[in-house]
Amino acid sequence: MTITANWSYPTAIKFGAGRIKELADHCKAVGMRKPLLVTDRGLSTMAITQGALDILDAAGLGRAMFSEVDPNPNDRNLEAGVKAFRDGGHDGVVAFGGGSGLDLGKAVAFMSGQTRPVWDFEDIGDWWTRANSDGIAPIVAVPTTAGTGSEVGRASVITNSETHTKKVIFHPKFLPSVTICDPELTVGMPKVITAGTGMDAFAHCLEAYSSPFYHPMSQGIALEGMRLVKEYLPRAYKDGTDIEARANMMSAAAMGAVAFQKGLGAIHSLSHPVGAIYNTHHGMTNAVVMPPVLTFNRPAIEAKIASAAAYLGIAGGFDGFFDYVLRLREELGVPDKLSALGVGTDRIGEMAEMAIVDPTAGGNPVELTLDAARRLFVECI
Ligand SMILES: NC(=O)c1ccc[n+]([C@@H]2O[C@H](COP(=O)([O-])OP(=O)(O)OC[C@H]3O[C@@H](n4cnc5c(N)ncnc54)[C@H](O)[C@@H]3O)[C@@H](O)[C@H]2O)c1
Ligand SMILES: [Fe+2]
Repeated sequence: MTITANWSYPTAIKFGAGRIKELADHCKAVGMRKPLLVTDRGLSTMAITQGALDILDAAGLGRAMFSEVDPNPNDRNLEAGVKAFRDGGHDGVVAFGGGSGLDLGKAVAFMSGQTRPVWDFEDIGDWWTRANSDGIAPIVAVPTTAGTGSEVGRASVITNSETHTKKVIFHPKFLPSVTICDPELTVGMPKVITAGTGMDAFAHCLEAYSSPFYHPMSQGIALEGMRLVKEYLPRAYKDGTDIEARANMMSAAAMGAVAFQKGLGAIHSLSHPVGAIYNTHHGMTNAVVMPPVLTFNRPAIEAKIASAAAYLGIAGGFDGFFDYVLRLREELGVPDKLSALGVGTDRIGEMAEMAIVDPTAGGNPVELTLDAARRLFVECI
């Protein structure tokens, strides 16, 4: 089945296999004449990235690339990217990659027009109104993983390289003007990245669905996002060339990010300090901590999860859902404990302090206290 679509929600999305060939047209349509493609180091030499540069070049837009981007990108990457943008006289950003390339690309476009430090735009209250919104360069996003949903999000996650904390930087104009969702670009993902990113999408849907706030739109999107992951992530994992599965996982990723406007929760609150300190893969970290967080939240979400289970065709209510998550993790080769990702027990106190002030903690259906965070870390590691 060929899946092609044009959506305008929450931004212009050009969805379908092969649609990367439209990249230059969309860049021109949003006013770019000299875009800077921002991606991470690993992707910079890959054929999909070189192919995207060829498309820009052939249309007279040049082939400028900035790729000094780490996984869990940080302020140093950002500073270098903004310098490359300004020195090169660029007028827009093609944010290309997984969450790392996308987040840093979006942040470069944003910071290219600001004078204040990036931390002044953390996602707190109305801090985003401090920004000069006329200075933000246009963004065309091209996801190459199916997980973070950053391609349809209004935030970037940037690690503070001094304090080793992950900060969410927010502005409504972080939302790309155009997003090209081409599932063929995700075919080359290694199995472990397919699994980790897919579980990030699942975590976004699950946490958005579980958070206590009133947001029926997000609730519906989160539920259907979980169904897509259930049906298609094992297929994409087994056969990376299964385009129908890859396409549906791209949808699930975008849906997760749209849904988590409603809130995230303790899976992400625990995962952020771990990622910032140990540089683990974000989605894989989420997948490891998911079952203990589900159990912790059980008193508040038992009935809700039972409804989700019924929709997903899982028998047995909350327990059935919990067992399903364990089976899914096993099928995708997710380790049971964080120690398998290189996380030690020596910094639990510090990580617990960071988890409870993480902006995602407020969306958890059960209050994440310092003691609870500590206990969860002990269990997860
Ligand atoms: N902005 C948001 O709302 C949001 C949400 C969740 C996570 N994040 C952030 O996103 C980042 C994680 O993103 P991610 O999970 O997509 O991983 P990633 O971008 O770090 O990529 C992981 C690895 O996969 C490689 N890769 C990417 N696409 C590939 C492809 N098609 N073929 C082969 N290799 C490929 C990359 O080079 C990299 O080595 C974290 O920094 C996380 O904090 C942001
Ligand atoms: Fe996430």
